[in-house]
Parts: sequence; structure tokens; C-alpha cells
Amino acid sequence: KLPEGIVIKEVGPRDGLQNEPELIGTQDKIEWINHLSSTGLSYIEITSFVHPKWIPQLADALEVAKGIHRNKDITYAALVPNQKGLERALSANIDEVSVFMSASETHNQKNINKSIKETYPVIEEVIKNAKRHHKSVRGYLSTVFGCPYEGKVSVKDVITISKTLFDMGIDELSIGDTIGVANPRQVERVLIEIREHFQQNHIALHFHDTRGTALANCLTAMQLGFDTFDSSLGGLGGCPYARGASGNLATDDLIYMLHGMGISTGVDEARLKEAAIYIQQKLQKSLSSHQMEIMNQG
Ligand code: HMG
Ligand code: MG
Repeated sequence: KLPEGIVIKEVGPRDGLQNEPELIGTQDKIEWINHLSSTGLSYIEITSFVHPKWIPQLADALEVAKGIHRNKDITYAALVPNQKGLERALSANIDEVSVFMSASETHNQKNINKSIKETYPVIEEVIKNAKRHHKSVRGYLSTVFGCPYEGKVSVKDVITISKTLFDMGIDELSIGDTIGVANPRQVERVLIEIREHFQQNHIALHFHDTRGTALANCLTAMQLGFDTFDSSLGGLGGCPYARGASGNLATDDLIYMLHGMGISTGVDEARLKEAAIYIQQKLQKSLSSHQMEIMNQG
């Protein structure tokens, strides 16, 4: 039996934009997020308080977070790697803080300049201090289905790290297919294991569509009862510190499939399309989702 409704967590303004080489204006980002706020989405990851040298596109995180019009029914979240990032995020009064690390040693090192072991105390401090400020905390675990440097990733390691993050106090864990290599059988195998160890309603799935398998992976996860998915409008996105990690699962394609199946999301497709057209114009390039491809062909 499939879930009747799905929660979509829009990560376009963060995961989508972080991989764009051409700098987008701060005001354009703010307006795009305001567009997204009018679509019915309940959660938007708006930016990232990482080191601006590592992600130049999101160097204006504070201005964006302070500049958007906040709808009280929407959770506005941002990526936070360490205490320094948390201080910046708190000064913008972000609703939810997202900590992140990888299930594979090499990607963790390349992405956040630390071993997995060295990362734990840094994240623990962020979680503790975020909670002190009454913020909810989301954890991301990357490279769960494969690492661009190490290849296969052990499910045992995924469980161990996930358990550590939950023990530190995260409220939700987002399981990431950072480079879009997962297939439905693998997703089934990993998620059955995850479901045995953690409460299912505290797990989200974060698929990238690099090889075209993201929707199939979502359907598999839904068949197992998972109901929360991260996606990026128009299929923008990827991690610059994971070779070949292009294309997040496109929000518009996911919603097309879900609504067609009679599964609710709360999102208005026409408004979502307007938001996609807006950012497509600002980026001056065609967005890669199927929905936008059809629209662009007229
Ligand atoms: P580092 O160089 O090791 O940092 O970078 P450090 O702690 O040694 O500090 C060095 C200097 O940076 C210090 O300044 C700090 O104050 C400053 P100095 O004393 O030399 O003047 N600094 C900061 N400044 C502003 N904001 C900060 C900050 N932190 C330190 N937050 C660090 C470590 C983690 C900061 C760096 O590696 C980094 O920013 N990495 C982020 C990489 C990234 O954003 N990757 C993409 C996101 S992850 C992803 O896409 C995957 C995901 O989508 C899920 C999936 O798909 O699987 C989430
Ligand atoms: Mg991602």
C-alpha cells in the first residue's frame, strides 16, 4: 500500500544552486524563494552557511535568509557545517538547521575537510547549540548508495553513522544518493535495513537523478512506506565535491508522477511551473526536468 500523501522538501535554492558556476544575484534568489513559498510547499532549504570559498554561489546566505518573505506555515532550513556556520544561521533566525556528513571516508574528507571521526564532535556541537536555541535539526548522510571515490559503501557503516547522528539528537535523517547511482533493488535492500533500526517517519530520501533512476527509487521507497522526499525544482543541482553529481530529482517530475497516481503533496503545479520559469530565466539556460523540457519545446 502506498502512502496517501507525500512530503516534499524543496532543496533547489541550496542543492540546486550550489552547483551553478554563474553567480545568481541575491535579489533573484530571494524572489525565487518567495515564488516557491507561494506554491504550497511546506519546507524549503534556502541556502547554506558553509565556507563561502568552498561554495561561492551561496556566499550571500545571510542576506538571502534575512531577505525572504517568511510564510509561517513553511519551514525554512539551511545547511550548517560547524559552529561558525550555526552562528551565521542563528543570526538569520533560520527555522531548521541541517548538518551533513558522508558514509564514505573519502567523500567526507573532500567535502568537509575532515575524517568521519573528526566530524562527529563538530556536528555534535552544532546539534547541541541548535537545540539550545530551540531549532530542529536535520541530518544528511551522503554517498549511502555509492561513493564517487570509493565505489561501494557498506550498509553496516550507514547504520552505524545514522545511529550516531540520531543519538546526538537529530530529528530527521535524509539518506542521500549523492551521485545518483542507486537502483530500486539496492534502495529496497538498504531501506529494509534502515527501517529495522530507525523510526520510519524520521527518515527522508534524497535522490539524485544522474542516471535516470530517481523516480523508480522513490516509488520503491514509497512501496516500503517512506513518505518524505527531497527534490529540486527543474532538476537543478549536485554536490561540487562529488565528481559527476549532477541533477537532483526534479520536484516538478516527482509531483507530476504523484498527482497522476492520486497521491497528494499540497503543491500547486501551475504555481510551481511559474517558479521554474522564473529561475530558468535568471539562469539563462534550460532546466533539465522532463516537465520543463516539454514546456520549453512549446
Ligand atoms: P576548513 O577549511 O577545514 O575550516 O573547512 P576550518 O574550520 O579549518 O576554518 C578555516 C577558516 O574558515 C576559519 O577562518 C573559519 O572561521 C572559517 P580563519 O580563522 O582562517 O579566518 N570558516 C567559516 N567561515 C564561514 N562559514 C563557515 C565557516 N567554517 C569555517 N561555516 C568547512 C571546513 C566544513 C567549513 C568547509 O569544508 C566547507 O564549507 N565545506 C562545505 C562543502 C559543501 O558545502 N558541499 C556541498 C554540500 S553537501 C551536499 O551537497 C550533499 C547533500 O546534498 C546530500 C547528498 O546529496 O548526498 C547535502
Ligand atoms: Mg544532494
